[in-house]
Amino acid sequence: MIFDTHAHYDDEAFDEDRDQLINSLPENGVVKVVNVGASLKMSEASLELSKKYPHVYAAIGIHPDEAKEADEQGLMKIRKMIENPKVVAVGEIGLDYYWNKENKDIQKKAFVDQLDIAKEYKLPVIIHSRDAAEDTMKILKEENAGINGGVVHCFSYSPEIAKEAVKMGFNIGVGGVLTFKNGKKAKEVVEAIPLDRIVIETDCPYLAPVPFRGKRNSSLYLPYVVEMIAEIKNIDKEEVIRETYKNGCRMYGIDCDL
Ligand code: NI
Repeated sequence: MIFDTHAHYDDEAFDEDRDQLINSLPENGVVKVVNVGASLKMSEASLELSKKYPHVYAAIGIHPDEAKEADEQGLMKIRKMIENPKVVAVGEIGLDYYWNKENKDIQKKAFVDQLDIAKEYKLPVIIHSRDAAEDTMKILKEENAGINGGVVHCFSYSPEIAKEAVKMGFNIGVGGVLTFKNGKKAKEVVEAIPLDRIVIETDCPYLAPVPFRGKRNSSLYLPYVVEMIAEIKNIDKEEVIRETYKNGCRMYGIDCDL
């Protein structure tokens, strides 16, 4: 049983076959999916998907690229959405200095305000962080943001930073990048941290693993990520699937009959 801890099935890339694809996941071994919001609109869409499909859960949050949405009114909408029973996390939230260097203060405020909401509702957080390791770690520490757990998704930093995040209570999100030729750092991270802190994710439609790199990603390709983790950790694939499934359930507080 596979747990895709980070997907965006509301994306227009799935407009043609969304229903069919999501319905086909359980019979293909993917029995839990968290659809992650990245804007108010996408959070709303995640919520709708979670209501429609028993195996889909929702995360609600505003991505750093959309930080300006996180004004008083936006945060109120986030709170309102969080009240729904299938919301399991706040995210994705964080800092992205790769795409935006000019509005760091706005990004930081949106990040901290949403971390506060997560603490208030005792929910784990899904962290997006790109080219912003120092500020991200500083804020996570200052805010004691790992108190309800969570994940640093699509982890792109060093093994040292990964260990630090684990110490703070976070899991490390591992996806298609692990299979890339230039995914050396991701491999080192998987090597450095214990299996019980690894969760698997697609970030679909993005980041399809090899041999589908560049194509539309979906949870159906997660076995390629599993295979690479098994190879790096020198354990069998079934163990990777079983343990990462447990980790996903534990992280999101989903009762998975384990
Ligand atoms: Ni994402």
